[in-house]
Order: sequence, then C-alpha cells, then structure tokens
Amino acid sequence: MGQIVNAVKMAHALLLPKLKNAYNVVDATAGNGKDTLFLAINTPSEAVIWAFDIQQTALNKTKALLADHGQERKVKFILASHDQIANYVNSPVDAAMFNLGYLPGGDHTVTTMPDTTVAALNQLLVLLNPMGIISIVAYPGHDMGRREELALRSFLATLPQKLYTVACWQMINQVNNPPVLYIVERTG
Ligand SMILES: C[S@@+](CC[C@H](N)C(=O)[O-])C[C@H]1O[C@@H](n2cnc3c(N)ncnc32)[C@H](O)[C@@H]1O
Repeated sequence: MGQIVNAVKMAHALLLPKLKNAYNVVDATAGNGKDTLFLAINTPSEAVIWAFDIQQTALNKTKALLADHGQERKVKFILASHDQIANYVNSPVDAAMFNLGYLPGGDHTVTTMPDTTVAALNQLLVLLNPMGIISIVAYPGHDMGRREELALRSFLATLPQKLYTVACWQMINQVNNPPVLYIVERTG
C-alpha cells in the first residue's frame, strides 16, 4: 500500500531547506543509516555529521551505507548514548534528527528511553544555533514509545516561546497510534 507521506518523510522535507547551510549536524539515532545518509547528501561538502548509536551493529550498518554512497568522510560515528552529546559536540549545531524507538530488524528491547531522550534534547537545545532545527519522530505504537512520546510532549510544551517554535505533525486517520513528528526551531 503506497503512502505519499509519513512522519520521517515529513521530517526530511522540513529539514531539507536548512541543510544547504548546515555545517554541524547531529543524527542522534543512526540505526540503519538512512537518516545519516540523507543528512550527508544534503549538507555542504565541509559539513560534519555526528552519528550516535548505542549499538555497534547499527553503526556498522550506517558506516556501510554511507561508504556505498561515498559519504562516510563527512561522518563521525559515535558509539555512545545521545545523552552524551555534549561530551562530543562542542560547537553550535545547525540541525539534528531523532528517529526514536528500536533498530528495524534488530533487538526490539534496545530502544530509546524517555529520560535519555529528554536529556539529549536538553543538551542539543543549548547547542542549537539561531534558526537551527531539530526533528524528532516518536513511535507511540509500542509501550516504551508511548511513555517516551508523553514525556517528550510534556517537555517540549514547556520550552519558552520566545526562544523556540515547537510544532507537531501526525496522521489522524490511522489505527494503532501512528508516529508523531515534533519540530523544534530556535527562533530567539
Ligand atoms: C528507529 S532506529 C533509527 C533509524 C535510523 N535513523 C535510520 O535511518 O535507519 C532507532 C535507533 O536508536 C538507537 N538508540 C536507542 N537508544 C539510544 C540512545 N540512548 N542513544 C543513541 N541511540 C540510541 C537504537 O539502537 C536504534 O538503532
């Protein structure tokens, strides 16, 4: 069944116009590498992409995908939780992506968690450049994903309006709690 748009495609569409001027970029959940590849292909040649994952398997897949497309030179592959971002990234960030949940085709018990996701966002918000953007796709269709999406929504709803614009997008006619996309832009 075809789907013209979904939460991840929407995230890509909203990030795309920013990427031509994005020199320091974070993929907080590298997974199979599709988002890292999207970021690498659409940023300037001198851009640096920081790709985090807690699973070596995921980073290996990401590395292989990027190498297949001749893009691995731009990417720093970091085997660490994204709540360690501030220990690795110390210059301002232009764009960041979170595609939450577990590795498709991998161990479903290794999944992103509410506390570490919010901690990572707290660090990124400090690093985010004016007009910088963060996309977060959350998956409330599984138990931990539901808790994570609730924590995320409560956290994002408290961000000061003078500094950040926060929006969310979701399909409204799909069964089983479809994914939710949050977009945070630093406007102040
Ligand atoms: C839905 S997948 C990401 C999909 C990926 N962006 C892609 O394009 O294929 C979620 C990934 O988050 C990773 N992950 C889970 N907890 C994490 C954490 N605390 N820090 C960084 N990555 C984490 C998982 O190992 C998994 O690979």
